[in-house]
Amino acid sequence: MEPVISREPVISVTNLSKTYQNGARALDDVSLKVQPGEIFCLLGPNGAGKTTLVRILATQLLPSAGKVSVLGQDAIAHPELIREDMAIVPQEGRPGQDLNAWDYVYWYLRARGMVAREAAARTEATLKEMGLWEIRRTMTAKLSGGLRRRVLIAMAVATGAKLLFLDEPTVGLDPEARVATWDLIARLRKQATVVLTTHLMDEVEALADRIGILAQGRLVAMGTARELSRFVPSKTKVVLGEGLELPWLAARGEVAVRGRQVAVYPFDEAATREIIDRASSNGVSFAVAAVGLEDVYLRVVKEHGEVVAS
Ligand SMILES: Nc1ncnc2c1ncn2[C@@H]1O[C@H](COP(=O)(O)OP(=O)(O)OP(=O)(O)O)[C@@H](O)[C@H]1O
Ligand SMILES: [Mg+2]
Repeated sequence: MEPVISREPVISVTNLSKTYQNGARALDDVSLKVQPGEIFCLLGPNGAGKTTLVRILATQLLPSAGKVSVLGQDAIAHPELIREDMAIVPQEGRPGQDLNAWDYVYWYLRARGMVAREAAARTEATLKEMGLWEIRRTMTAKLSGGLRRRVLIAMAVATGAKLLFLDEPTVGLDPEARVATWDLIARLRKQATVVLTTHLMDEVEALADRIGILAQGRLVAMGTARELSRFVPSKTKVVLGEGLELPWLAARGEVAVRGRQVAVYPFDEAATREIIDRASSNGVSFAVAAVGLEDVYLRVVKEHGEVVAS
């Protein structure tokens, strides 16, 4: 028989709310748990509260109400007990301009108390993995925005912290660097717990163990990608070019107009066939595709309304 291993959640949030001083209600009664070794992805429209939640969990911001336990400690009463076990890549963060990449990573590790030998080894390994080794001696002031962002990711990852917060880590990275960063994050799995926010569905599909979707400060969906797929009524969709009447389509499935395309989530197989036949005979381009996370996301967010600027 498998031994029963009790797994204390790394993060446990209960009835968390945050209202900023200007009255903006960024989080509204959020409760969630993140398990050890998980990559937990937070999704949600601009202004949904993702950064606010990450900053509260990373002990940078106090909530207005609710309980926050991180790594077994009360994160509100005792932030100092957990800070050295976590690292964060903030959404807007860039390293300063007056050192090179090597120095930023190395001295960050030393400042966190790592001994010289280990800090040097970790700095080298991480800079290589992040594709920064060749430019390690270049002053960051002379690096491109994407490279500076990579230095910041390297600083956080090299710490070997048990808990990492990555707030839109790969924004501005070129596709090759983005994939390399995913590899790096995926390899952290199990030895670290990662909370990551993103707007990139392929990032979530490449990394997430579980996903939480925030909308207007509320956690409106939570689960594995497979569990979330139940939010969409069909397993496949038909994506059409312009040309078919929307009411006719709406009688056969759920319709979403997206720019010059129309996505239809058919009610059943007969409807799928009818839509394809009609598209073919009218010369309308179409493709049948499996329903993915983006479909789930768009539906859930639409259901809970757009976020109004506060
Ligand atoms: N320092 C602040 N003072 C006042 N209101 C704030 C502050 N920071 C964020 N807000 C408000 O809180 C809400 C949530 O913002 P937050 O930055 O957490 O969203 P987000 O989900 O991270 O969005 P994005 O995808 O654009 O990064 C928004 O309405 C925002 O205007
Ligand atoms: Mg944000």
